[in-house]
Amino acid sequence: MSKRIAVIPGDGIGKDVTVEAVKVIRAVAEVFGQAFDLHDLPYGADYYLETGISMPPNGYAMLRDEFDAIYIGALGDPRIPDMRHARDILLGTRFELDLYVNHRPVRLLDARLCPLKDRGPDDVNFVVFRENTEGLYVNIGGRFKAGTPDEIAVQEEINTYKGVHRIIRHAFEYARAHGLTKVCMADKSNALTLGHALWQRVFAGVAGEYPGIEPIHLYIDALAMQMVKNPAQFQVIVTNNMFGDIVTDLGAQIQGGLGMAASGNLHPGRTSMFEPVHGSAPKYAGKNVANPIGAILSAALMLEYLGCEREAAAVEAAVKSAVQAGEGPAEIGGALGTKETGDAIVARLRKN
Ligand code: IPM
Ligand code: MN
Repeated sequence: MSKRIAVIPGDGIGKDVTVEAVKVIRAVAEVFGQAFDLHDLPYGADYYLETGISMPPNGYAMLRDEFDAIYIGALGDPRIPDMRHARDILLGTRFELDLYVNHRPVRLLDARLCPLKDRGPDDVNFVVFRENTEGLYVNIGGRFKAGTPDEIAVQEEINTYKGVHRIIRHAFEYARAHGLTKVCMADKSNALTLGHALWQRVFAGVAGEYPGIEPIHLYIDALAMQMVKNPAQFQVIVTNNMFGDIVTDLGAQIQGGLGMAASGNLHPGRTSMFEPVHGSAPKYAGKNVANPIGAILSAALMLEYLGCEREAAAVEAAVKSAVQAGEGPAEIGGALGTKETGDAIVARLRKN
């Protein structure tokens, strides 16, 4: 049966890179004789400003029930400074579809791209699992005397046993399935002695069920330092929503820039959502300069999730060989535009 994919190009360079990701998916379909049923959805800043609708009332249920996967370009527009539409579309889908795993690989494809001295592809190759449905992102709290010198702003961090347990479990399951031997959990339990004590307890408990996998703990500040100092030590990192947001931007840089980084928002077994880690970069929108590689690698993650492992591997191989041949945009030192980078990857896909 053909896979049904909702495509939300979104805002800014999200539209530019989505064109390339879709081009690659269509090429994969041809090369491998697969059927993908791609369905464009208009949600984003323009649609919100025109209609007042960020997501229609039945939007989340429609995504969940009518599609196998959701592909998003990027969201964010200066005309909507409170990011209302982006919150509804991106965070809303994470919450409503309960996409509790934010899977963000950190993989250097070519030593040339790494800002760290003397580091190559073997040194930067791990995956971050960011908890994606709770933590500081739930918007629980309030403002008192807002706008006055006496303002009090409270933003609560939510850690539930269920939420912490399922993301840590996922990290260990992934390690086991991929023959990996270490899982590092990062929290701030030295300062946040209440909420993060839960992470400590659950990590110790789950680790005990995986005798072949070494559990490692780092405070989040130390993790950030170690990612720069010696990234080769990491295989699997698991952390909370906010910390995962931050360290995956750091991870993006050590793999060559924000434009290189891919992500999947998953609820294993259910409709899940894929997007590059970068934002909408309105300044560069429509100029054929954005790096589409993170978007294309996110499409590869989606193919893998949809059970098309061979196809995903072919896309990754095509991207890797293009990058190593210097075929790419300015962000990675190449001379190609967004479109030409997509074409180069498609050409390699067809040749291999
Ligand atoms: C990300 C982004 C989002 C996040 C923003 C746009 C709300 O930075 O996907 O990493 O913080 O999750
Ligand atoms: Mn982020």
